[in-house]
Amino acid sequence: MTQTEDKVLSTEDTPLVPIEKIVSLSKRRGFVYPNSEIYGGVSGIYDFGPLGVELRNNIRRYWWWSMVQTNDNIVGIEGSIITHPRVWEASGHVENFVDRLVDCKNCKRRFRVDQLPLENVEQNKCPECGGELTEPRLFNLMMETYIGVVEGERMKTYLRGEACQNIYLDYDNVLKSSRMQIPFGICQIGKAFRNEVTPGNFLFRQREFEQWDLQFFVHPSEMQKWFDYWKEYRVKWYEGIINHKDRLRLRPHGPDELAHYAKQAFDIEYRTVLGWQEWEGIHWRQDWDLSRHSEYSGHDLSYTDPETKERYIPWIVETSGGVDRTFLNLLLDAYEEEPPSGKDKEGRTVLHLHPWLAPVKVAVLPLQKNKEELVTTAKDIHNRLKRLMVSQYDDVANIGRRYRRQDEIGTPFCVTVDFQTLEDSTVTVRERDSMGQIRLAISELPSYLLQRVTWNYA
Ligand code: GAP
Repeated sequence: MTQTEDKVLSTEDTPLVPIEKIVSLSKRRGFVYPNSEIYGGVSGIYDFGPLGVELRNNIRRYWWWSMVQTNDNIVGIEGSIITHPRVWEASGHVENFVDRLVDCKNCKRRFRVDQLPLENVEQNKCPECGGELTEPRLFNLMMETYIGVVEGERMKTYLRGEACQNIYLDYDNVLKSSRMQIPFGICQIGKAFRNEVTPGNFLFRQREFEQWDLQFFVHPSEMQKWFDYWKEYRVKWYEGIINHKDRLRLRPHGPDELAHYAKQAFDIEYRTVLGWQEWEGIHWRQDWDLSRHSEYSGHDLSYTDPETKERYIPWIVETSGGVDRTFLNLLLDAYEEEPPSGKDKEGRTVLHLHPWLAPVKVAVLPLQKNKEELVTTAKDIHNRLKRLMVSQYDDVANIGRRYRRQDEIGTPFCVTVDFQTLEDSTVTVRERDSMGQIRLAISELPSYLLQRVTWNYA
């Protein structure tokens, strides 16, 4: 199955969805909750509810499948959040991972200098009230923590500011313990922490979030080839899971935007109500990381080519994206409020999520709740399907209401058990996007649904 075969392609450009609609749906239906809400919450930190965790797992699993499982020259690791503090000196984060901030002397609001309109920077003027701005001050984004229990002997370190550092730390161990040879890659999905000065826009800019990284190690002479290869691969990957392909683009970084570790960079961006925003970064990290860790640790991380015996520090292509931004962008991409039309008198809210990623794959619904045979048959089908995929049984309210409940959370298929089922062992299968229905033998349901909702179904 190709990436796009099984999905709805919306060709006309529907209006951009306000983030508040996604925040409200997420809370109401159990995708995302504010963290520590009963204590007033913590800015920039969120929890994921029952549907959110299913969607997140599907997003992670699909990335892992397409990056690690299906590429023979890539392996995965899972590193820890806390590392030796010297890691962050070597990586440049202690020195360079800073935001420049100014405060308004009048209204006391705080701004990141790189986010201010040029005119306000030049005139030193607050964009909100026109007041005078302070001189810029530097704020480091790394979150500090301490290891050890005895006061005075505790070691200060950091929660990792970018997850990828573990990959450089484990690079040599992976080389020695696996049969990888350059060119090869190491992948990881893991949490990162940043004391963002302006967290906001829901999951877009958080203080605790999850990244996925590929670090691909190459000979310097092949850097351009692999940089282009992964750029194209990752753009296609995102195109394969969204409906609005015209909202995706690849943008080169200007020289003043480059992170301290990057010689060149491209952002894969997605357009929402926030404008064009980064979804994933493709970075030309060159030999920055392995050279710095060699220097700071005293451990030589150079590579010897087994055939030519050439010794060199490998260069690195990085593709680094966010699980949370994927989660948010997919909801923004999928959300639609459809007006009443034809046989649909009420209109509906629907999430056109790719069936591979939808949190619930199928809902099994008896036509009526008070007919015991319908209920027993529907429960039996649900009990068998739930071993293969996430299935929900629902018999509350009329059938139209139940379809709408499932549309709103993006369930691609609803199976209805009706009176004909009792005669010929067939059911109706309703498809979320077209609302079309087919009749299928109960015995055919598992293979039909598996083919539609599983990306690695052979
Ligand atoms: N190792 C490279 C690196 O960390 P980055 O551009 O700072 O690069 C990579 O981050 C990805 O992590 C971004 O493209 C974005 O998807 C996600 N990300 C970064 N900061 C984030 C934040 N504060 N909240 C949510 N996601 C974030």
